[in-house]
Amino acid sequence: MDSETLLARITDYASRPNPYPLYTELREAGPVVRQADGSCLVGTYYEIAALLHDPRMSADPRTRGEVTHKPPFLRLDDPEHHRLRTLAMRPFGPPHSPGRIDGMRGEIDRITKELLEPFEAGRQVDIVDDFAYPLPVTVICRLLGVPREDEPLFRAWSDALVAAADVRPGDDSAESDKAGDQARIEMGGYLVNLAEQRRGNPSDDMLFAFVNEPDPNLRLTQEELAETAVLLLIAGHETTVNLITNGVLTLLRQPEHLDHLRREPDLLPQAVEELLRYEPPVHMRERVPLADIDVADTTIPEGTSVILVLASGSRDPMRFHEPDRFDPTRPDNEHFGFGSGIHFCYGAPLARIEAQAALGALLPHLGTARLVQDPPPYRQNAMLRGPRHLPIQL
Ligand code: HEM
Repeated sequence: MDSETLLARITDYASRPNPYPLYTELREAGPVVRQADGSCLVGTYYEIAALLHDPRMSADPRTRGEVTHKPPFLRLDDPEHHRLRTLAMRPFGPPHSPGRIDGMRGEIDRITKELLEPFEAGRQVDIVDDFAYPLPVTVICRLLGVPREDEPLFRAWSDALVAAADVRPGDDSAESDKAGDQARIEMGGYLVNLAEQRRGNPSDDMLFAFVNEPDPNLRLTQEELAETAVLLLIAGHETTVNLITNGVLTLLRQPEHLDHLRREPDLLPQAVEELLRYEPPVHMRERVPLADIDVADTTIPEGTSVILVLASGSRDPMRFHEPDRFDPTRPDNEHFGFGSGIHFCYGAPLARIEAQAALGALLPHLGTARLVQDPPPYRQNAMLRGPRHLPIQL
């Protein structure tokens, strides 16, 4: 059956520029589509939502027998997940208040402006390398409290981690895996060291808040601190790069929306939400059922690898009117761009501010800009999907 090869066809590099017709095929074959390798794909909105909210669906790689250290909380189940997520959230201010993140707005605007200085009419620039890529690393460094002179270290570690996550099938991945592990260890060690220097030395960054927590029950261990800080960098870097880059690509492909936004920049927050639905950075997440689970009229057996195709759910016509149309004024836009349920993106408020600031600052430069290559070259990764480069002529 053709539907048994859907995952292989989606992950095939040739599908990277436009996987959406395959997602339509998936929803039509669904809601649960078994693959030749035994895994299951789910691509319809309501079934994905139900599974993301089902406590019997595990995100922990150890439940499927993978031998690993204790994973970061992105890949832990409750109650362990809840404890670490709550602790990691505390320095951001009280729950559901933008607090510290909102205070980053001015800083983000300054970083954006600096990066845009060389953007002069007539030049060719790469939106990825010259703009979107350096922004989130710099923001995370400022948030954690990494001194400016050490930021290049973070860029190098971040490069190694991104490369390790983007290996071509068939390539020898051992080398980039090793470089990725090495970067993770070095970055963890560096952060623990920096945190130690913060003990008792007041500053207003997150590392200070982590190590000077007065309640011992709420304190992270050294290992948890290193894991959490590394997680913030990994989870928040490439995703934000892809959101900004996909935004530029979408607006240059559909100049009527670019004009509209240039006339009405107040629409930017809504346009960013629509981008998270229409061209999201995270296309799929994996879960494993801890018991047999019934979805529609199919039973997914305990232990099956279940791939939730979030990007397909966000284009489900059962949930969204004309889902393949980019509409920055779309009402009721509850997309899966940041996931849903207990693992709902911890960095969403920051990512939103970064994307709004970045696209807002770029708007004046895009009026007469054009894409040099369409489609642009993509990264290998089908789960975290985005252009490797986006050359544009200003
Ligand atoms: C546009 C940018 C971003 C996108 C599209 C995005 C997307 C997502 C998604 C889909 C999830 C859910 C994963 C799952 O259910 O398995 C997630 C979780 C997470 N994200 Fe983001 N993210 C972005 C930016 C950030 C930033 C800037 C940070 C950090 C500062 C961050 C930190 C996290 C963390 C820690 C989790 C795990 C939460 C948990 O397990 O409770 N993300 N993100």
